Amino acid sequence: MLSTIRTEIRSDTTGQVSREPQPPARHSRQPVSFRSVEREELVVAGSMGVRGLISEVRGRTHEETVRLLGEGVQSLRADGVRRAHILVDPADLLARAAEEVGFRYCPGETLLRRELDDLPEPARGCSNTLSVRDGDAEDLARIGLTLSKVSTLEFKGWELLLIRQELRRPDRFFKVLEANGDIVGASIGGSFGEQGTISHTWVAPSSRNQGFGEALSTASLEALYAAGARNVYLMTTSGNDRATRFWQRQGFQERADVSFMEIDL
Ligand SMILES: CC(C)(COP(=O)(O)OP(=O)(O)OC[C@H]1O[C@@H](n2cnc3c(N)ncnc32)[C@H](O)[C@@H]1OP(=O)(O)O)[C@@H](O)C(=O)NCCC(=O)NCCS
Repeated sequence: MLSTIRTEIRSDTTGQVSREPQPPARHSRQPVSFRSVEREELVVAGSMGVRGLISEVRGRTHEETVRLLGEGVQSLRADGVRRAHILVDPADLLARAAEEVGFRYCPGETLLRRELDDLPEPARGCSNTLSVRDGDAEDLARIGLTLSKVSTLEFKGWELLLIRQELRRPDRFFKVLEANGDIVGASIGGSFGEQGTISHTWVAPSSRNQGFGEALSTASLEALYAAGARNVYLMTTSGNDRATRFWQRQGFQERADVSFMEIDL
C-alpha cells in the first residue's frame, strides 16, 4: 500500500495537490500528500514538530476515508514520527473513521489555539544576561534527560532522537534559553504548511516567573511565523493550570469546538 502512495505523492507545503509535477517543496521532507484525481480522494499528512499530523482527508465514503487515513498514518510512520494527531469535530464522520484506524481522544488534555497573522510582540521580561538561541546537538545532550523527567511535558526518548537526526529542518525548531552560560529553558515545535505547534516548553524551576517562558514563547512563535505557520495549536495536560494560564497570556485560547485525537505509530 505504501508503495502506491509513494508513487502518487506530491510534496506541497500549502496542502494543495495536483497531478502536475510540482516545484521542489520549500521543506523537502515535510508534507506527504496524496490524491487520486479520478476518485476525488485526498489525504494530506506530514510531520509537525516532532509529531505527525493528518491535516486533511477527503473520501467519498466511510471505507474510503478509513483507507486514506491508514495510508496517511503509514506515510508518517515511514517519515520517522511515532505519534500522530488529527483534529476532528466529534460529531463528524471523520471522527468515527479516525477511531476505526486507531486514533483515540485525549480526554485529559486541553487544546489551545492562536492565530499568527503577524509576528508576535517582543517579549517583555528579557534581561541582558538572558538569550534565546537555536539549540544544537550538544544542548540536546545536556538537557534531554532533564526534559524527559518533567512529567507535565511527556517528552519521549524518540522525540529526542528525531530532533537530533535533523536539527536544522526549517519546519522544526529547537530553542534554548541561556542565562549566565547555563541552559535554563527549552522549546520544541514545528509547522506543517499553515499549521504550527509548540510541542514542549520548559523553564527550570529556579528560573520561573521572571518572563523567561514568555521569551521562549515569543522565539517559538517567531520561528513558526518565519516557517509560514499562521495557526498554532498546543496541548496542556489537565491540572497543569499554570501552563494553561501561561499560554492564555501568550494569546492562546481554548478551542472547544474541535477535538484532538492521537495515535501511537
Ligand atoms: C509553563 C512554564 C514554561 C512557564 O515558564 P515561566 O518562565 O515561569 O513563564 P513566565 O515567567 O513568562 O510567566 C509565568 C508567570 O510569571 C509572571 N511573571 C513574569 N515575569 C515576572 C516578573 N518579572 N515578576 C513577577 N512575575 C512575573 C507572569 O505574569 C506569569 O504569570 P501567570 O502564571 O499568571 O501566567 C513553566 O512553568 C514550566 O516550565 N513548567 C513545567 C513544564 C510545563 O508544564 N510546560 C508547559 C507544557 S504545555
